[in-house]
Amino acid sequence: MRKPFVAGNWKMNMDSHTSVELVERIASGSVETAGHSVTVAVCPPFVYLQAVAQALSTSGIAVGAQDVYFELNGAFTGEISVSMLKDIGCLYCLCGHSERRHVIGETDELINKKVAAAITGGLLPILCVGELLEEREASQTNEVVTRQIKGGLTGLSAEKVQALTIAYEPVWAIGTGKTATADQAQEVHLFLREMLEKKFGNKLAKSLRILYGGSVKPDNITDLMTMPDIDGALIGGASLEPETFSKIVQFQK
Ligand code: 13P
Repeated sequence: MRKPFVAGNWKMNMDSHTSVELVERIASGSVETAGHSVTVAVCPPFVYLQAVAQALSTSGIAVGAQDVYFELNGAFTGEISVSMLKDIGCLYCLCGHSERRHVIGETDELINKKVAAAITGGLLPILCVGELLEEREASQTNEVVTRQIKGGLTGLSAEKVQALTIAYEPVWAIGTGKTATADQAQEVHLFLREMLEKKFGNKLAKSLRILYGGSVKPDNITDLMTMPDIDGALIGGASLEPETFSKIVQFQK
């Protein structure tokens, strides 16, 4: 019922030449799956979005931004609006990635405005949530993701939330090579789905895709994808290498 979804978050990596080369190689390595049995997206830095979107225009692979601003236009130096992203062929945008929360200092309130603006403007947001190591060790995982989901989705109707994808990315698993086990991830995904059910009803909770992110590699994707509430993955480091990313896209559930 929920089509698997694999998205690559390039973070602050690549250049104009290697960006296009990378997606051309990903497209040729994922022709049978991309857009058909698996939703595939890449999220390059803002400055390479347009070239990447053009290179992928006939590939079935979608393009997403790593962030977005909530205002429509005006005096917001350095920011990028929803309509600008749509204008150059973006379909998705990450909201509230842990690096934006913990390095840049984004709050749930700001992330909520971004999610709402994205949906209203016709972009599909991927809301990222996840706990720090000390929060997991203090058994606060559920509390943290509850706060992030409730905060991130404040004021949004079930109808609007249909546009959403959630990514559970435990911060301690990001870029560390220390992935959550499939059981650990499933436990949180189930908790998130039950929370969504209480807030928005069974039908919506069943239809929303919840991705796992944090050191996903070709050798752990199949295990993760066997779990009933894991619907795909948000990939950092392994999305910068075309063969590795294509292998992840072609996992078998
Ligand atoms: P890694 O796959 O490098 O751990 O990064 C995960 C991530 O942050 C994706 O958004």
